[in-house]
Amino acid sequence: MTDSTYDRDLTVATEIAYMAGNIMLQYFDGDQQKVIKHDGSPVTIADTLINTMVIERLAVAFPDDGVIGEEESSEDTNQERVWLCDPIDGTKAYVWGTPTAMFSLALVVSGKPIVGVAYDPFLKRLYTGIVGQGSFCNGEKLQVSPDTLETGIVAASSSLDRLMNNPPSYILELVKRKIQTATFSGAVYKASLVARGKFVGYIEEKVGPHDMAAVQVIVEEAGGKITGLDGRKLDYRTPFKGAITSNGLVHDELVRLTA
Ligand code: IPD
Ligand code: CA
Ligand code: CA
Repeated sequence: MTDSTYDRDLTVATEIAYMAGNIMLQYFDGDQQKVIKHDGSPVTIADTLINTMVIERLAVAFPDDGVIGEEESSEDTNQERVWLCDPIDGTKAYVWGTPTAMFSLALVVSGKPIVGVAYDPFLKRLYTGIVGQGSFCNGEKLQVSPDTLETGIVAASSSLDRLMNNPPSYILELVKRKIQTATFSGAVYKASLVARGKFVGYIEEKVGPHDMAAVQVIVEEAGGKITGLDGRKLDYRTPFKGAITSNGLVHDELVRLTA
């Protein structure tokens, strides 16, 4: 079903996104109580407070749904309806003090993202989408760019160390073909820029379901496409690693570059 059935889900997710944004702003310049996780990535007090708030709010609004957050999940996550949340995507940017960190929340039904909300509290941009109903930024309809690889910009990983010491072949190929590239921390931010037509594509090897669920809806409803690195449809019921986001037109070329 892709009708107004999901209006309440979107309303609740939007309220939660604004609350998350307030927490992000509260700690942006303050004591972030940063710790490094086992995978080497940072996590702050804002990540954990937001994740807990999301679980609490969704438990009240939709007691039968599961919630999978990057930092914490609800007890039962085997339901047909599961919310996937990245409390702060781009925590590296957040601790650097660069405003490309975003909140991300999606309702996934039987493995397919149906409702997506992503919020940039710094520019106060709320991205929303429901499958079959378009995607919007602060109420304005989103549309991907008509550009090609030659005329557009492709975003990639933010790891300078990796790009220099162990550059993936698609990076070398993009550089060789003199295609403009952009790198900074924040997968949701980069994908949102594909949805709003600034970038034609974005290749990322490390992202998983909680990173991509909301932008899957937002980008595709703006006319774009998100798949695995192999070009296949993503199934949000099982973990995956890596995704290609594009305006649709350059998708196959990006898949070929990544193969
Ligand atoms: C990460 C960021 C980063 C991307 C990584 C993600 P996190 O998410 O989006 O830009 O390169 O693949 O895992 O750890 O900030 O939520
Ligand atoms: Ca993330
Ligand atoms: Ca995160």
